[in-house]
Amino acid sequence: MSNRVGVVTGGSRGIGLQIARVLVMRGCSMGVTYMHNESAAKEAEDQLLQLATNGQHIRMLKGDAGDPRAVREHAALIRDELGCVGILVNNAGIMPQQNFENVTTQMWDDTLRVNLSSAFYWSREVVPGMKQEQYGRIINISSIAARGGGVVGPHYAASKAGMLGLTRYAARELGPFGITVNAIAPAFIEDAGIFLDWSEEEKDTLRKKIIVNELGSTGDVARAFEYLLDTPFVTGVTLDVNGGAFMI
Ligand SMILES: NC(=O)c1ccc[n+]([C@@H]2O[C@H](COP(=O)([O-])OP(=O)(O)OC[C@H]3O[C@@H](n4cnc5c(N)ncnc54)[C@H](OP(=O)(O)O)[C@@H]3O)[C@@H](O)[C@H]2O)c1
Repeated sequence: MSNRVGVVTGGSRGIGLQIARVLVMRGCSMGVTYMHNESAAKEAEDQLLQLATNGQHIRMLKGDAGDPRAVREHAALIRDELGCVGILVNNAGIMPQQNFENVTTQMWDDTLRVNLSSAFYWSREVVPGMKQEQYGRIINISSIAARGGGVVGPHYAASKAGMLGLTRYAARELGPFGITVNAIAPAFIEDAGIFLDWSEEEKDTLRKKIIVNELGSTGDVARAFEYLLDTPFVTGVTLDVNGGAFMI
């Protein structure tokens, strides 16, 4: 991986940061995007630089992954400064919880844009370089909500289900160019997102409902990511990382 370039959208915290750490430990230079939280981004940059023992470059990029112009600018910057992107992790996501009839048009549009359109915008930018190199890994971070519906709301479930269709279409078209496209469907990741704010009591109640009676970690998702990264013969799949909860 030592001369590869990776991009993780929404990589300043949670699952995205853990995946970025893995890529840096494997020798990649990285573009890492984020949206609002400057202090988390600074902390992430420091952590990644400490891991970059082969002189890799770490480029933190602030902006909306759901805005095609911002994505085009970021992608051009990475291409110019670091080179062709070989590994793209479409991870940026928002999850504003709301029940069906109270989802506003704005909330619907924003969630689809950030969670789903961003994956298409970023993929569209990096695929030409991947084709040229005859190597690419695109990994889309979906959710258990894509199949079971989940509890966040229809906007979130639809955005994450859309990612699975995008994954399968892209896998089919891009496979002959050495590019694999896969998805990971996590749930209940204790050290990321909303679960960081939960009390131990709330987490214990949730654990009892999960088949393996455990919550997951960003490390569990990162291990699934590494499998997909290392395996050229697997494409178009969705890997469930949710303690068996997809069966419930
Ligand atoms: N945690 C779970 O249990 C779980 C379960 C299923 C699926 N997922 C999915 O996994 C992915 C990561 O989740 P997480 O829990 O690790 O999230 P998180 O801790 O909330 O982190 C979200 C990341 O996305 C960035 N972001 C948000 N909006 C963005 C935008 N418009 N453009 C670019 N970056 C943006 C955030 O940057 P700022 O901090 O600067 O805003 C942050 O870096 C999401 O797609 C989520 O839906 C998570």
